[in-house]
Amino acid sequence: MASYKIAVLPGDGIGPEVMAAALKVLDAVGEIEKVRFEYEYAQVGGCAIDETGYPLSEETLELCKRSDAVLLGAVGGPKWESLPQDRKPEQALLKLRSGLGLYSNLRPAVVFPALADASSLREEIVSGVDVMVVRELTGGIYFGSPKGADENKGWNTMVYERHEVERIARVAFKLAQKRGGRLTSVDKANVLDVSQFWRDIVIEVHKDYPDVELDHMYVDNAAMQLVRTPKQFDVIVTGNMFGDILSDIASMVTGSLGMLPSASMGEKYALYEPVHGSAPDIAGEKKANPLAMIMSVSMMLSYTLDLPHAGAAVQQAVSEVLEAGYRTGEIFQEGDKLVNTDEMGDQVIKRLHQIKNEEPA
Ligand code: IPM
Ligand code: MN
Repeated sequence: MASYKIAVLPGDGIGPEVMAAALKVLDAVGEIEKVRFEYEYAQVGGCAIDETGYPLSEETLELCKRSDAVLLGAVGGPKWESLPQDRKPEQALLKLRSGLGLYSNLRPAVVFPALADASSLREEIVSGVDVMVVRELTGGIYFGSPKGADENKGWNTMVYERHEVERIARVAFKLAQKRGGRLTSVDKANVLDVSQFWRDIVIEVHKDYPDVELDHMYVDNAAMQLVRTPKQFDVIVTGNMFGDILSDIASMVTGSLGMLPSASMGEKYALYEPVHGSAPDIAGEKKANPLAMIMSVSMMLSYTLDLPHAGAAVQQAVSEVLEAGYRTGEIFQEGDKLVNTDEMGDQVIKRLHQIKNEEPA
């Protein structure tokens, strides 16, 4: 029986709750596909700080390196907000990303037909939206030096090296080839030198992908276009901070931040996590939507574990559960069936078994 080792980092706030629901789904996949998933847990973020003083230990990083894939819930919370910058829970994420070389972050924003009326935007604007945000994840202003702060000023540096832009551009062009054949590169080239550099490199790399239609957009305009006509986008490629902001906007187009999964990949390792944070305001109440975490599991099955069939089944199960009217609190509307975190996971599992039974033998 094929067996996969998964590093499980539930983190803080709602992280452990959505993780528990998602692992039950993964167990069901294991049963159906006759493969084994072995989980090894470790603490990251605030809970790790409480235990060891540090948001991410060397041992945890090593655990990730000897696993087939990493699943992460969420990190952070008010309890740790006033710690110095280099000791905040968020550092765990940044260290995982750089330590594992996870330079490409894929954040698909897909509007499920059943949720087209849950967006804060009009249904005709969002129905059919299917955007892939490709965010550069180990460079840019998040990692540039010099950085620091003293009493009178604070500073960070936005820097991109040629090879960093080239490799993320290639990921995006290849994705666009497999999807709608269109790529929008987002920058601020009218103001920032680093952005003009980014744009020039993307144009160079485009020569290797002539079948992809490339255009460029300034980030302020892209933010506006995303809420004005989100359907104009197929794949968006952008730097670390612009991608952070644009993917939150894209998520609300889909109706809820609780619906967005993500994959972070490099040459050797891959980590899967929901785009949403630790939501301390609802932590411990079983109210959180586990679907972003569950769809992150689906991405892991498809991209890293070579079980695309199982990944697609999870995605279909999620879609069917929404069709059937099940909703967690943040997307609940009158007439829906309100469920908690675990119940939502159980509904997905039920559909997974049905999908399996309906398959031609
Ligand atoms: C995200 C988050 C992180 C980021 C934070 C928590 C470090 O907002 O994954 O989008 O800014 O990258
Ligand atoms: Mn973010």
